[in-house]
Amino acid sequence: MDRRYDLVLYGATGFVGRLAAAYLALHDERIRWAVAGRDARKLEALRTRLATTPNAPEVVVADSTDHAAVDATAAQTRALITTAGPYALYGDAVVDACVRQRTHYADITGETVWVRRLIDRHHAQAERDGTRIVPFCGFDSIPSDLGTWLLVRHMQHSLGASTVEVRAFFRLAGGFNGGTLASNFARHALGDAARSRDPFLLDPDPRHAFDEIEANLDPTGPHFDPHLDAWVAPFIMGPINTRVVRRSAALSAQWGEAYGIPFRYQEYTQFGGPLSGAKSAAVSVAAALFDAGAAFAPTRRLLTKVLTPPGQGPSELMMDRGWFRTELRGRTADGRSAHALISFSGDPGNRATLRMLCESGLLLARHADSLPGAPTRGGVLTPATAFGDTLVPRLRAAGFRIEVGEARAAGAP
Ligand SMILES: NC(=O)c1ccc[n+]([C@@H]2O[C@H](COP(=O)([O-])OP(=O)(O)OC[C@H]3O[C@@H](n4cnc5c(N)ncnc54)[C@H](OP(=O)(O)O)[C@@H]3O)[C@@H](O)[C@H]2O)c1
Repeated sequence: MDRRYDLVLYGATGFVGRLAAAYLALHDERIRWAVAGRDARKLEALRTRLATTPNAPEVVVADSTDHAAVDATAAQTRALITTAGPYALYGDAVVDACVRQRTHYADITGETVWVRRLIDRHHAQAERDGTRIVPFCGFDSIPSDLGTWLLVRHMQHSLGASTVEVRAFFRLAGGFNGGTLASNFARHALGDAARSRDPFLLDPDPRHAFDEIEANLDPTGPHFDPHLDAWVAPFIMGPINTRVVRRSAALSAQWGEAYGIPFRYQEYTQFGGPLSGAKSAAVSVAAALFDAGAAFAPTRRLLTKVLTPPGQGPSELMMDRGWFRTELRGRTADGRSAHALISFSGDPGNRATLRMLCESGLLLARHADSLPGAPTRGGVLTPATAFGDTLVPRLRAAGFRIEVGEARAAGAP
């Protein structure tokens, strides 16, 4: 492809977008790239700030409501990554343009119902064209999806067995961005919340038997896990990540690379230290109260006024102090097990997310020919099915710890 840019970063003036722009500008890999978005003045200011960096960007202006401008933006680049969200509000024109222009695409959405609509609209065409459309390339859902993929492959190669169950346990510290809160509120305002409860929402064919749905419903409430010897509660991002992992398993099965049949996946927050039972109960109650508040229009309006607005996020200090640790435990049908660990020191929703998105974008922009299934694989993919282990060395170089093995991962809880 002979295009003006390797990569366009769309939504570059938002909170994650600005951080991602700074990361790409200082990246060792030299690229031809542009920062893009709706506001020419803000984009010029960003370009001026990055002008003396080794990878200084150009500027492209395209409001998401100007379909011709978005189309022209997608036509100029090999790959486009976007942080312009809520995606249900600003994302359609961008993905539509990328599919039309056969431009590889990645984002950091967690909006599962919006992605279901993308699958219905675009999967078949993108699959025919070999265009990779890869949502969920942030904290939701790369640790879950890549971690599971690595664990399943490890169990196939080292134990010679397929995996029937993976459970992921998260521990983390970090803050919420205004953009993330806005996306959650938009999900309720658009009436997407009920549909997002379908455990197989993102499967190629989301129709499943009643007993399969029952067996895969999201966990509710805290409980003591005797195998882990710890209290756990439902993980707040579980209703996003589990759908993505199940889509990876279903796509892999279609390609003759099934994870395991049946294959079950669930996620939890893990608590340690004194009063961990009480902490897990408090977190479950707080999450349920927040969700109820976001679902009801008057309280949603109030929360919108008092919580962090779009464009803002955690302080530098809070991002420095943030971290996450995802431990995944896999099991074969005959009871053998293996573990994987993915962790990062730095705020999950920003420091970790921008790295995962940018490294995904660089793979699509510069290394598409060495991705799994290249050159023909395309469609609305998941991080695991789009990138497989090509992401691992890049994420390690970006500061992530990634381990997989039969023994309990070193240092794991
Ligand atoms: N997966 C994860 O772990 C993760 C983590 C963090 C965030 N996120 C998601 O990422 C998204 C961005 O988060 P954020 O905190 O960076 O949000 P943000 O600061 O509010 O940024 C939103 C961006 O969208 C742009 N935008 C708004 N309307 C537009 C339009 N009509 N045309 C083009 N661009 C438009 C904004 O442009 P202006 O600058 O001109 O206003 C801004 O650049 C959200 O959807 C959030 O949920 C995901």
